[in-house]
Amino acid sequence: MSTGVVFGGSSGVGAAVTASRRKQGDTVVCVARNVEPGPDNVQADIRDPDAVDRCVSTAFGRGPVDYVVNCVGIGLYAPLESARADLWKEVFETNVLGLLNVLSSVDRLCPLLRQLIHISSLAALRISETPGSMSYSLSKLAAHHAVIDYRTRSRGQGRPTKVSTVTPGFIGGTAFEAVFSRTSPCDLDLYSGFTPLSSEDVAAAVDYVLALPDTVEVRDLTLAPMGQVR
Ligand SMILES: NC(=O)c1ccc[n+]([C@@H]2O[C@H](COP(=O)([O-])OP(=O)(O)OC[C@H]3O[C@@H](n4cnc5c(N)ncnc54)[C@H](OP(=O)(O)O)[C@@H]3O)[C@@H](O)[C@H]2O)c1
Repeated sequence: MSTGVVFGGSSGVGAAVTASRRKQGDTVVCVARNVEPGPDNVQADIRDPDAVDRCVSTAFGRGPVDYVVNCVGIGLYAPLESARADLWKEVFETNVLGLLNVLSSVDRLCPLLRQLIHISSLAALRISETPGSMSYSLSKLAAHHAVIDYRTRSRGQGRPTKVSTVTPGFIGGTAFEAVFSRTSPCDLDLYSGFTPLSSEDVAAAVDYVLALPDTVEVRDLTLAPMGQVR
């Protein structure tokens, strides 16, 4: 049994990861803005560095922290012609600066962390075709690179932390899907023609990464729905 922190554990992938790890007996501190506060649930905004530090410290109160999983990510419909710089900023503050807060906190407070996992996206590897999602793609690309950089520095410093990205394609039933289906003017059917991944599929990938021996580091695990072409 291990102790972990899941950022973004209130819904979608993070909720599935939290449920799976707790089912296996782990103590999981679940972090989100909208989570019922409790001994193992902390309300916090990942954009606030002090709040992120508090979450990691709360987990330390339960025992040595073995893993941190960052599942926080937002996508907002905001095409260039909308000039919604406020939305582009919100996406970057959450997806990029929020991740940097997590990496910084782990760096300072958890030098012996065993595993860090960041949920990336196929949108980090090529510009997404989903209309209005350019800020999301760019933020996920920046975040992906931040994780690679963090891994390189960790290896260079001789840290024991394995640093992994899990990179999914479309996931059904998430708030992300709802945002783009609801706000896109083209009445988007994101998953026509194929079955999307489920949050539980992605949680199973996280379980796989966590089950490997300390000598094996998954750098990236990409999951795509059969039928998703790009
Ligand atoms: N859905 C997809 O098709 C898809 C595909 C590929 C990759 N991904 C990636 O998968 C990850 C999980 O997304 P999801 O689809 O599971 O979305 P989701 O259901 O919207 O979950 C996002 C989680 O992040 C939390 N969150 C958002 N902003 C936050 C903030 N400022 N501070 C703290 N927590 C915050 C949310 O909780 P609160 O709102 O309560 O704070 C929620 O728990 C994201 O990184 C996303 O980019 C998603």
